[in-house]
Amino acid sequence: TQTLTILGLESSCDDTAAAIVRQTGSERSEILSSVVFGQTELHDRYGGIVPELAARAHAEKLDICVQDALRAAGLSLGDLDAVAVTAGPGLIGGVLSGVMCAKGICAATRLPLIGINHLAGHALTPRLTDSVAYPYLMLLVSGGHCQYLIARGLDDFTRLGGTIDDAPGEAFDKTARLLGLPQPGGPSVEAEARNGDPDRFSFPRPLVHRPDCNLSFSGLKTALLRLRDQIVAEKGGLHRQDRADICAGFQRAIADVLIEKTRRALALYLAENPAHPVVAVAGGVAANASIRTALEQLCAESGARFLAPPLALCTDNAAMIAYAGIERFRAGKFDAMDMTARPRWPL
Ligand code: KG4
Ligand code: ZN
Repeated sequence: TQTLTILGLESSCDDTAAAIVRQTGSERSEILSSVVFGQTELHDRYGGIVPELAARAHAEKLDICVQDALRAAGLSLGDLDAVAVTAGPGLIGGVLSGVMCAKGICAATRLPLIGINHLAGHALTPRLTDSVAYPYLMLLVSGGHCQYLIARGLDDFTRLGGTIDDAPGEAFDKTARLLGLPQPGGPSVEAEARNGDPDRFSFPRPLVHRPDCNLSFSGLKTALLRLRDQIVAEKGGLHRQDRADICAGFQRAIADVLIEKTRRALALYLAENPAHPVVAVAGGVAANASIRTALEQLCAESGARFLAPPLALCTDNAAMIAYAGIERFRAGKFDAMDMTARPRWPL
């Protein structure tokens, strides 16, 4: 097989990223460079991502990211075989910035253009890091997404279920905001939870007894708000231990829901694919040690192999986009220069 070197671009949310991935004939992939420019500080004081600000920052940073990625890999545009770019789903201004940047490079160099579904990028990451064969069960848990997928092949995904409201990362972020902890909320809530008693307060576990793979996290936020206000009314403020106990209880509830639903998804997956028991996770929430450990344990009990890519590849990055580009290139799936950016694009 031909050695492929592909530039990937990602700008669908609040990270501007460029990366170069090479796959040699042996099918092993190597990340030659991966640059990520975060926007957390830009949006911090607004209490959420401001799409217009995000789009401008992407447009400003993309060229710099591409140059940095090329320099770090010691390559020039002439060494590339194609440009892969996130073409959706996501905030349209950001996606458009990336798509226009990729088209510009392709127009100037005559390199082929490949549009990538951001969710497929996450879902293919275990093939980039572990060269795992299809099929496998994929749990995508981030600030924007929460779903179970069976990955059967390129463009062949089955969605078993997902959140009907908030994503768990979003719940962590809102919780941090309500408790006055810094963003992103996941790491700060996890740090607080380490000193807390998860049994002091009980949080709802919505949909947990339904026999499907759907999840819900918005009720947790309401419960938390009520609890916080009740404690403040009683004591005049939140003490350090109260905050730690709330975080511990909240995190336990999220972990319980995720584990129970993963158990169901895994049962469905194994019934269909008993000979290939593999579970992979991606998304920022997979960084949470207690959630990760619980997932590991569930997989061990079920005799399934558990794959969790390194954190930098679990969160938004362009290496996963470049890698998805390699798979599409090998399948002969390219896009024309009139390719559109798609704000909504289910897998
Ligand atoms: O995948 P990601 O970088 O971005 C997308 O949402 O696409 O995930 C970011 C999310 C944030 O909501 C963040 O709070 C959460 O992942 N997160 C965590 C942890 N680290 C990041 N959630 C729980 N525990 C963590 N340690
Ligand atoms: Zn993402």
